Amino acid sequence: MVDELLVQHVLAGRLSAYDITAELLPRAPLVRFGLVDIKPSRPRPFAALEVDPVILSRLRGEPPELGAACAPRPADRDLDALEASPGAIAAAIDAVARAARPARIAVRGRTGAGRRTLLAALADHAGRALGVIDATLLPRDADRFVDALRVALRRAQLAGLVPVVHRLDAAIFDHRSGSDVARDVLAAHPGPVAILAPPGAPPPLPLGHTAIDLPPLTETERLAVWQRALDDTHHWLRDSAGVAARYRIGPGVIHRAVAAAAAAATAATTATRDPAAPCDDRIDAFLRQARDLRLGDHARRVDRLATWADLVLPPDIMDSLRELIGRVRHRRTVFEDWGMSRAMATSRGLTALFQGQPGTGKTLVAGVIARELGLDLYQVDLSKVMSKWIGETERNLATIFDAAEDGQAILLFDEADALFAKRTEVRSSNDRYANLEVNYLLQRLDAFEGIAILTTNSGGSIDPAFKRRLSFQLSFPFPDEDTRAELWRAHLPRELPRAGELTFDALARKYQLSGGYIRNACLRAAFLAAQEETPLHQRHLERAVALEFAELGKLSTAGSIA
Ligand SMILES: Nc1ncnc2c1ncn2[C@@H]1O[C@H](COP(=O)(O)OP(=O)(O)OP(=O)(O)O)[C@@H](O)[C@H]1O
Ligand SMILES: [Mg+2]
Repeated sequence: MVDELLVQHVLAGRLSAYDITAELLPRAPLVRFGLVDIKPSRPRPFAALEVDPVILSRLRGEPPELGAACAPRPADRDLDALEASPGAIAAAIDAVARAARPARIAVRGRTGAGRRTLLAALADHAGRALGVIDATLLPRDADRFVDALRVALRRAQLAGLVPVVHRLDAAIFDHRSGSDVARDVLAAHPGPVAILAPPGAPPPLPLGHTAIDLPPLTETERLAVWQRALDDTHHWLRDSAGVAARYRIGPGVIHRAVAAAAAAATAATTATRDPAAPCDDRIDAFLRQARDLRLGDHARRVDRLATWADLVLPPDIMDSLRELIGRVRHRRTVFEDWGMSRAMATSRGLTALFQGQPGTGKTLVAGVIARELGLDLYQVDLSKVMSKWIGETERNLATIFDAAEDGQAILLFDEADALFAKRTEVRSSNDRYANLEVNYLLQRLDAFEGIAILTTNSGGSIDPAFKRRLSFQLSFPFPDEDTRAELWRAHLPRELPRAGELTFDALARKYQLSGGYIRNACLRAAFLAAQEETPLHQRHLERAVALEFAELGKLSTAGSIA
């Protein structure tokens, strides 16, 4: 064991005891940069001195031990070969040149925007590589997290790397976010440090830091990236313009998708391999898989979507639906080509609220819209999204909204009241946090560029501030008699064997049921008939209705159920 006294003895004659003490002061470089750690267990000059293992491995000529959370990341392309919006790279170079020393840099942008690639190229320009620290791999106890982060930053620096911390927002603590917990450590780190942050978020760095924003690529820029990535791997797309338009993703994801499609093509058996075949399907499959993975258990892809033909709705609602679909189809023309997004500060996203009693077709219509537009429908599971942990609900929502903005997906918030309900007067700290969630949602909806459908049974419970931000509101009426007859007819397929004429008009007149219950009754009646081994008879339908009413605790079949 080495202590200060021993050092004084060994170096006696060459350095005075005073000089050695001065070198070991907290502000002296040896200590400040963490080359030597003074263990506080005993008073000086008896305190143990420890040299960081990175220094030892350097002296031994071994690769440095960086720890599990930190991985070196060399640049994979030069600054001038980076794919980003014109001007973004020049602005970044300029910002870094003017940064205070030590440089503290936040690169903001969406997942897959190429934040790491940009930083790696910038570091490479200065003759360094990155040491990427994943905050989610550090301990989840706030105190241990802080210590581990400090060590990781120091090790990366001593190994000659520029530390970059990412996923701070995904590191969750009881009462604070990872960004909050890391703030002081980042400020105290004596060398250059960078973090990756989502767009618009204030980074947890001290005042005077350098913020670099990586804007999303435009459609034309994306097309160019796809083209280059495909050329590099000698693959091609049947509809590259369509793919560029559909997926609003960054260069990183584009390159990964092309690489995966290329790998899949190579792995195909010789029998199925066709070198000249386009890889559209493989790209779509990869991007859908990546989206499913990202949404994890917060949202589930609905895989049976209804068609126009399945809908029984009054003509005015059908017209509104066509208008809604048109809004998505002609977004680019109206907002970009016709300059409407410049003329008015409006979000380019589409958010619709469907209100109506249970079983009136709200969820069904969401599916029809997705099918019409050729998009995937994701039903958000609010019970998994809403968390008692502070900040986690927002983070889950951020993931969901981000994924939906990447394109090809519609978000469905069924029973949206749970999330979009009126803000409450703050009575307890819980109310305050609930209101924070609402505030986050309001701000996120303002910037939302994807498609989301909210459904509710009672429009009145939705916060008016949300309603103002919605691009579309549609009320689903309770079906009238004619519509009900049509619903009965629509729910019994032609193949179903029938005994005699079924009088749907009578059913419609007698029972005030919404589509959902008519569907249930039809299914039930079919099973009753199957059990009796007879074709479906009017009495099966009547009996099924009676059972539906009874199940709801209603003694009489008069009155409406929805
Ligand atoms: N307008 C309709 N046209 C055709 N079928 C309908 C209609 N409305 C309801 N149905 C039938 O009822 C079923 C349930 O409807 P859906 O789930 O869309 O109701 P909802 O309005 O979302 O109800 P909830 O508020 O309970 O979620 C549908 O799958 C369909 O079979
Ligand atoms: Mg529904």
